Amino acid sequence: MNLEDIISKTIKDNNNPIGFDVFMNLVLYHHQFGYYRSNKMILGHKGDFITAPETSDLFGFCLARQCKQVLNNGNILEFGAGSGILAAQILFELGRQNSLPEKYFIIELSAQLKKIQQQTIKRALPEIYDRVEWLTELPRNFKGVVVANEVLDAFPVKRITFWNNQFYELGVDYTDNCFQWKRFERPYLKSKVSYGDDLPEGYTTEISLQSDGWLKSLYDLMAEGVVLLIDYGMSQSEYFHPQRTDGTLKCFHKHKSNNNPFIHLGDQDITASVNFSDIAKSSIDAGFKVDGFSTQSMFLISLGIENFLISEEKTENKIKLAQEIKQLVMPGAMGEVFKVMALTKKQSVKLDGFKEQNLTERL
Ligand SMILES: C[S@@+](CC[C@H](N)C(=O)[O-])C[C@H]1O[C@@H](n2cnc3c(N)ncnc32)[C@H](O)[C@@H]1O
Repeated sequence: MNLEDIISKTIKDNNNPIGFDVFMNLVLYHHQFGYYRSNKMILGHKGDFITAPETSDLFGFCLARQCKQVLNNGNILEFGAGSGILAAQILFELGRQNSLPEKYFIIELSAQLKKIQQQTIKRALPEIYDRVEWLTELPRNFKGVVVANEVLDAFPVKRITFWNNQFYELGVDYTDNCFQWKRFERPYLKSKVSYGDDLPEGYTTEISLQSDGWLKSLYDLMAEGVVLLIDYGMSQSEYFHPQRTDGTLKCFHKHKSNNNPFIHLGDQDITASVNFSDIAKSSIDAGFKVDGFSTQSMFLISLGIENFLISEEKTENKIKLAQEIKQLVMPGAMGEVFKVMALTKKQSVKLDGFKEQNLTERL
């Protein structure tokens, strides 16, 4: 059996096409062959894509500063911790500032990534390794800071297409030994899509349903604190812009992007940009306050990323850091496409990361 057999059998057993969210869930999270569950996924320069903490330690150092401001004797909980590098960066910087939390929890779905995280953190910070604990579910009454970098974009999405003045769900069928898009017969009636009248026929986009439940359980299990969501995405008006006719779905394989999720099954990452207006609405429905929304660039600048450069004495390190900062903050690199959103529960401190820019009104 391989993923193609498993998914085509699911479609056959269903007697109907399956939703793209079901397809994406199998391709990314199937317990044996899913991209995030098997040992094929490699992060960083040698892998399929590179994330901000893999780009520079300064990313985690800045996040640590934001954590420090609101930790208040609480702990940190990171979702989907990748190679573990972000955890190491945050803990290193908090240690440097004498503000280490008692516990740094990680919730990771991939057994292979968990092993890599253990190695990374043990190697970087052997003396505080025992503060890191891997959990399989959210801890009750959690107090502190929750961090999720590039996690929401990995949640399975539904695909919908505009036709005859209505949206229809685009499912996945299997015919002639190939996966194919298949429009469902009945219109898609969920209230999640807000759009004007000017969408062209065939306009296709994505909606994420999984984030609602995730945010609700996060709110319910948190006693108090801050949730920092960092991801590529945009507000609703940009997300459903009439010119974005083919949505935001992207696949990554060996640092090349393509828009065909039906190839490299289990060997490529599949992502969709985050609709932050939708996340804000679901968060408010869950009970959170949306306290900050800004570009990654302005978030890092608000937290003083340039100070790390100024305080570096060696010229060769300075050059390296300057390059890394460029990558994190320049609009053409990660600076503008990536956004940071802060959700709070029973927390009234004005967050340092949004000092220079807070775009919550535009959501
Ligand atoms: C693109 S990777 C990001 C890795 C890392 N945060 C980084 O920035 O390098 C997405 C991660 O999200 C994880 N993930 C997706 N859904 C999750 C969930 N519901 N709970 C925890 N982790 C999840 C995946 O297993 C994967 O490790």
